[in-house]
Amino acid sequence: MQRTLVLLKPDAVERRLIGQLISRFEAKGLSIVAMKMLRVTPDLAKQHYAEHVEKPFYPSLESFITSAPIVAMAIDGLEAISVVREMLGATSGLKAAAGTIRGDFSSSRQMNLVHASDGPEAAKRELDLYFTADEFCDHTSVLTPFLR
Ligand code: TYD
Ligand code: MG
Repeated sequence: MQRTLVLLKPDAVERRLIGQLISRFEAKGLSIVAMKMLRVTPDLAKQHYAEHVEKPFYPSLESFITSAPIVAMAIDGLEAISVVREMLGATSGLKAAAGTIRGDFSSSRQMNLVHASDGPEAAKRELDLYFTADEFCDHTSVLTPFLR
C-alpha cells in the first residue's frame, strides 16, 4: 500500500468541482484517509513547490495557489502514487489525454485543478507539510486483503 498527497487547487474550489474530483478517486477504489480545506500561504507555497521556486513560472504559480482555498487529501491505495498521477494526466490541461482529470476539466497549463505527489519521497515530504500524524484516519475494509 502507498499513501500520496492530493491537492484540489483553487480553480477546483472556485469552479465547484471538488465533489466531482473526489468522486473520481473514490470510484477508482482509492481511500481518502485525511482531508482538510485550507488557504495556502506564500510560505507554504515555497515549501510545497521548493523544486520550482527559482523557475520563471514560480511567481505566477504562487499567486495562483494562494488565490483561494484548496482541499488537501491523503489518499491510500495499491501503488497509489503512480495510479493517482495517471488519473491526473499530463501537467498541462492543453496536453492531457481525454479521460484524465486534467484532460477532461482543464484548458490551462497552470490552472490544472489537481496536484499529486510524483514519487515516494515527495509523498512523504508533502504529506508532512499538510498533515500531522494524528490527522490520518486509516480505515481498512473487509475487502482490503483481496486488493493485490
Ligand atoms: P510540475 O511539478 O512540473 O507539474 P505537476 O503538477 O504535473 O507535477 O509543475 C508544478 C505546477 O506548476 C504545475 O502543476 C503547473 C505549474 N506550471 C506552470 O504554470 N508552468 C510550467 O511551465 C510548468 C512546468 C508548471
Ligand atoms: Mg510536480
